[in-house]
Amino acid sequence: MTAPVFNPFDPAFRANPYPYYDALRALEPVHTTAFGMVVLTRYEDVSTTLKSADFSRDIEKYSTQASSEARQARRDRQESRTKSILNLDPPDHTRLRRIVSKSFTPSAMERLRPRIQQLVDNVLDRAQEAGQIELIDDLAFPVPFQVISDLLDMPTDRAIELRQWSQIITNSLEPTATDEELVQSEDAIAQLVPYLTTIIEHRRKHLSDDMLSSLITAEESGEQMTTEELMAFVVLLYIAGHETTVNLIGNGTLGLLNNPDQQAIVHNNGLSQAHIDELLRFDGPVQHTVRVPLVPVHYLVGNEQITVQPGTVVLTSLGGANHDPSMFQNPNNLQLNRANANRHMAFSSGIHYCLGASLAKLETEIAIGSLIKRFAQIEVIGTPSWRDRLTIRGVNQLRLSVS
Ligand code: HEM
Repeated sequence: MTAPVFNPFDPAFRANPYPYYDALRALEPVHTTAFGMVVLTRYEDVSTTLKSADFSRDIEKYSTQASSEARQARRDRQESRTKSILNLDPPDHTRLRRIVSKSFTPSAMERLRPRIQQLVDNVLDRAQEAGQIELIDDLAFPVPFQVISDLLDMPTDRAIELRQWSQIITNSLEPTATDEELVQSEDAIAQLVPYLTTIIEHRRKHLSDDMLSSLITAEESGEQMTTEELMAFVVLLYIAGHETTVNLIGNGTLGLLNNPDQQAIVHNNGLSQAHIDELLRFDGPVQHTVRVPLVPVHYLVGNEQITVQPGTVVLTSLGGANHDPSMFQNPNNLQLNRANANRHMAFSSGIHYCLGASLAKLETEIAIGSLIKRFAQIEVIGTPSWRDRLTIRGVNQLRLSVS
């Protein structure tokens, strides 16, 4: 049997990637694509790669893969620009992560609970009156957006532009981004940077009790973040705030509605943090991340040792790892009481493990938990469509009738 081709352009792959991961894992778990990228779909390989110091997160710097002119121009610009924490390796990553972690503690996130509950209840009151809701535009997007804006005490007057900019920038992070999308992303960054610089500079002079102020003053061994580092971090928070939690709320709700027995558990007992781990495992918003080896690295497939050379882009499939039957029994079933769901890879692993994990889980607990608890009858209107993305997986629109 020949190994399945990993073709991210295939619409069937985008609609439901899991059977493709299953086939890849079974037939060619260390798969080299036509573009020269290596795709890993076994839990163990993904886990060891993400935890290994033999890999860098800085693809733009270390990848030896041929680039188009637009991609090369972007690489050059990124080399000269301050990178976000997500693209840094130690020791720079370690220093920044220590600084920002001070503002992202689970107890700091828990203090947001009443505000999030209030935002969600307002949306659900309107849904109850109308008898329906478009879950993405009415709940899954605006709540995390408002929460991140509140946290940083950002003005919301340019919310629509901010959403557009972050969507454009996120598109450019797709491995399949076109040259046009890369150029659009540079334009969006060129507009976002002065906007944020003004806000950060103003806040330096008017410190308050918001997270931006605490990021400005946080120190590690006497060092604070520069304005450029702060800006790269705030951009990342906006992208994370817009493009990830929204999809956990969307995918998680759809997963439950497609499994009425599991929906009934939530309706009767509420949505626990352990349940959210299962939603993340079952259909997480971030389907893969990337690393690049700095030395030759080896993977064992049967008796064969496969060596991957430094500079090769290695795509670690988080969705593939999360559906690996050697780690999760009956992985394609949603089972809220799964004992080891918390071993999922949806937030990655190792030093880049998602900093916003507690916040994302809290928002999801309140959003999905309150929706399903409040309404005994929830039905999907029409057929949900999926966003045309590879890295980020999310339902585009989810119109529901509720009573
Ligand atoms: C369900 C929602 C979310 C998912 C699935 C998610 C997923 C991820 C993943 C997979 C990574 C690591 C990527 C890698 O290893 O290369 C990551 C990193 C990160 N996430 Fe999230 N994320 C979510 C929500 C958030 C939120 C709400 C925030 C903040 C408001 C956030 C902030 C970050 C930051 C700052 C990093 C970089 C950490 C570092 O490099 O040390 N994320 N996230």
